[in-house]
Amino acid sequence: MSPRCHFLGNLRLYRCLAALAGVCAAIASPAVSQTVQPILLVDVDHRTAMSLNGDWHSIVDPYGTGLYSFHGQKRSDGFFMNEHSVVGGPLVEYDFAKSPALRVPGDWNTQRDSLFYYEGLLWYQKDFEYRPKPHTRSFLHVGAANYRATVWVNAKEICEHEGGFTQFDCEITAAVRTGTNSVVIAVDNTRHADGVPTTQTDWWNYGGLTRDVSVIEVPEQFIDEYDLHLNRSDRSEIDGWVHVEGARPGTTVRVTIPEAKIDSTATVGADGRAQFKLRAENLTLWSPNHPKLYRLELMAAADSLVDDIGFRTIEVRGTTILLNGQPVFLRGICIHAEAPYRTGRANSDADVEALFGWVRELGVNYVRLAHYPHDERMTRAADKLGILVWSEIPVYWAVEFEKAEVLVKAQKQLREMIRRDRNKASVILWSVANETPNTPARTEFLKTLVASARELDATRLITAALLVRGEGNTKIIDDPLGRYLDVLGTNEYIGWYEKTPESADQTTWKVAYDKPLIMSEFGGEAKAGLHGKAEQRWTEEYQASIYEHQLKMLNRIPQLRGLSPWILMDFRAPRRLLPGMQDNFNRKGLVSDQGQKKQAFYVLQRAYQSGSIGKAD
Ligand code: GCU
Repeated sequence: MSPRCHFLGNLRLYRCLAALAGVCAAIASPAVSQTVQPILLVDVDHRTAMSLNGDWHSIVDPYGTGLYSFHGQKRSDGFFMNEHSVVGGPLVEYDFAKSPALRVPGDWNTQRDSLFYYEGLLWYQKDFEYRPKPHTRSFLHVGAANYRATVWVNAKEICEHEGGFTQFDCEITAAVRTGTNSVVIAVDNTRHADGVPTTQTDWWNYGGLTRDVSVIEVPEQFIDEYDLHLNRSDRSEIDGWVHVEGARPGTTVRVTIPEAKIDSTATVGADGRAQFKLRAENLTLWSPNHPKLYRLELMAAADSLVDDIGFRTIEVRGTTILLNGQPVFLRGICIHAEAPYRTGRANSDADVEALFGWVRELGVNYVRLAHYPHDERMTRAADKLGILVWSEIPVYWAVEFEKAEVLVKAQKQLREMIRRDRNKASVILWSVANETPNTPARTEFLKTLVASARELDATRLITAALLVRGEGNTKIIDDPLGRYLDVLGTNEYIGWYEKTPESADQTTWKVAYDKPLIMSEFGGEAKAGLHGKAEQRWTEEYQASIYEHQLKMLNRIPQLRGLSPWILMDFRAPRRLLPGMQDNFNRKGLVSDQGQKKQAFYVLQRAYQSGSIGKAD
């Protein structure tokens, strides 16, 4: 407890206050172990992993009692956790072993009625048997934890992560032991004004360990990142690099792609990377019509890693998007990571199969994975099915653009998104924002973010979904952010948030940039099964009418090179409150959350299958 200070002469009083300040400082800045910043393993689904999926004990902790003392000070060494409980000092008031289970992966909101609206701190705990191996490094892999997470293994604090939709990997080599181990993860989905996203979104704030958790073992020197891509100006050359964590300069790296008769070596430089230029005559290029994937093997020191990788080029020429040098039109749909039927975060093979089943029925060749990086299963599926992907980070609406620390968070999420998916041929667009306000601070922030994206990956196109302004019957796209983008995305809701579906017939468009345009959102709500006149809002007929008039309008925009209507499936959204119609669902889906296809589904399907929408050049 803090020393008691009695009234003293000046000098002694000063000494007492200094002592008091010392104790307070110790409480305020707890003597926890130096947490390491997580790194990020890649191609995780091709590494041997010990799954920790399944039931974890859970303690709901709305007051942060496991982190803060009754005076609200961050606990210092007075707080520790042994294998099965979180103890506050001598009094054991928490015991994981007696606490109820939550399934991992899975958001907590849809697992327990009492947690449906919960926003706060929740503790997860699980025992696992382990036997550390010599010359091996162990990582705890978390596919996603929304929104902040801190990890302990055997009561040692290991790492922390912020960002609800990107994976992180924390080294636990020094903490694990032979026999029973205990992992504790504190997850807090509280929304923060300085978060990415900020406090306002139009999706449910699903909290928890929402994607796979596992233990991954790698050798002491291991391949932690690589980039192999087709050279844009010479499609018989594969360029790239392989980074080997812990490798000394001069370490040999071997790359083989047997089917392409490639077997090459290079040595690691001072930056840990081995650079490659591979001749690849007669490659079958990846495309929606022929999503060819090659088996790739990387070897370095004692590590080897395989991947299934496609090779293609994507670029812009004037207002045309070129895939492998050929004009392409993106017939798409937007998707939230909402699980069909059960709702909650989509995180399983079954979820991906259901979502892509509808996507393929529509006849799309492109999906916009809104508004954050989805489970890696989605981009793997897109690679296999030949579906082009727009992938984005949740710089959504009005994040705090004037704060440098918010830019750092956005850059980190951008880095994590690109690092995980940079070798997925299906991903052609990185989006840095959605519907952000046109202010100088926003434009400066996003200009910097675009530059970060280009620095991280010069092989893909950069975009953002812009807001559009109107003058009478004319829509004008002149957001200054457009200057920095390769492809313009724009969201508009003629017929739903403004005017009538027929108004689209009189609408003209002005675009201030000579760049390809993707109509990244349009649509309207309909309750599946509700029928009436086409003039009656909330009916399937009304939603179908929006699509019919929109598609005719879009065909009149010369530089339109793609569309992704909002949205494939109804999804939970806390701002959608209309009883009997929304009930906390945004009903703009072409399919209900229970899989009922609405009339608009078939309007779009006909347009895509008949080829009556869009011109690639
Ligand atoms: C916006 C936003 C979406 C939102 C949609 C809607 O365009 O990007 O996230 O759900 O409009 O209002 O339904």
